[in-house]
Amino acid sequence: MLIHLGGPSCRESEVTPESIYFRRRDLLRAGAGLALGAIAARAHAGAPSYEADGRAAAVPPWLQARLGSVRWQAVVAENESITPFGDASGYNNFYEFGPDKDDPARHAGKMKTEPWSVVVDGEVGRPGRFAFEDLLPRRGLEERIYRLRCVEAWSMVIPWLGFPLAELIKRFEPLSSARYVRFETLLAPQDMPGVRSSFSLIDWPYVEGLRIDEAMHPLTFLAVGMYGRELPNQNGAPLRLVVPWKYGFKSIKSIVRISLERDQPRTSWQSIAPSEYGFYANVNPEVSHPRWSQAKERRLPSGLFSPDIRETRLFNGYESEVADLYRGMDLRRDY
Ligand code: MTE
Repeated sequence: MLIHLGGPSCRESEVTPESIYFRRRDLLRAGAGLALGAIAARAHAGAPSYEADGRAAAVPPWLQARLGSVRWQAVVAENESITPFGDASGYNNFYEFGPDKDDPARHAGKMKTEPWSVVVDGEVGRPGRFAFEDLLPRRGLEERIYRLRCVEAWSMVIPWLGFPLAELIKRFEPLSSARYVRFETLLAPQDMPGVRSSFSLIDWPYVEGLRIDEAMHPLTFLAVGMYGRELPNQNGAPLRLVVPWKYGFKSIKSIVRISLERDQPRTSWQSIAPSEYGFYANVNPEVSHPRWSQAKERRLPSGLFSPDIRETRLFNGYESEVADLYRGMDLRRDY
């Protein structure tokens, strides 16, 4: 999503087509349908499934212990398939590791994710530095199958493992003065070729933000895994945000700081190109990017000769869940 003149930077030829598939990890199947949260999710019998990754090393003890209690929710339509793991973990944006879609998978393995801690500060009653393991919910994890729509006009469907951001924020006792949440990614130049590059336009670290009511919305998710396994580094290990009704760049990866703030934080993409990337970044087919339309998207995997082109939906198809957050707002002005 760097500033490429002439349109979105993803090319058909960068995507390896793969057959669609289908067997859910037994552990997750055992947890399927156990409980539903407050949101209008559709956990249905014929839900999409995915191939088990099969690598024992991908399920470390902390995750293994929580898989037995996974609660499952599909928040996609019945006729949508889950994107193959190979595409979701091989075609990425993580500019700390370079601008090309395969750079994160090639370079992010060097990032050290253990030990990991997150600083929580700002307008909270209980600030501090917390070990990753202490941030995990005691009641186990949820699996959420969400669409991910990139501002570059490609999309995927990904089964995340994690927990609602609201649960975590409540534990730190937000003050009434907290109106926004600011997130920061790890900055480790020695392991991050994109950060060291003199061509990078980003003023590191990568920063994102949400309004407090967006952050507390039940769809807003912190992922610690995907496809029934630990998050690959290129997807934002060990802890990333997933905000399914917003363009993918809001879903900040490898979070090391969460700050509750009085004022709207300035995000990385706003700083680079404020006329192209707004604070809200809600998926909206009616509001074009200045250099390309957002009316349609290319669902991955998608071959060169038969691209899977779909109509983009307002709020990425989550309108009934989130439209109330924006009542009375001009979505063209607050893009
Ligand atoms: N987070 C950080 N720290 N750095 C990034 O470059 N890219 C964003 C977002 N989070 C990015 C990031 C963009 S543009 C997208 S589309 C999604 O991550 C992509 O997530 P994925 O690679 O897991 O599909």
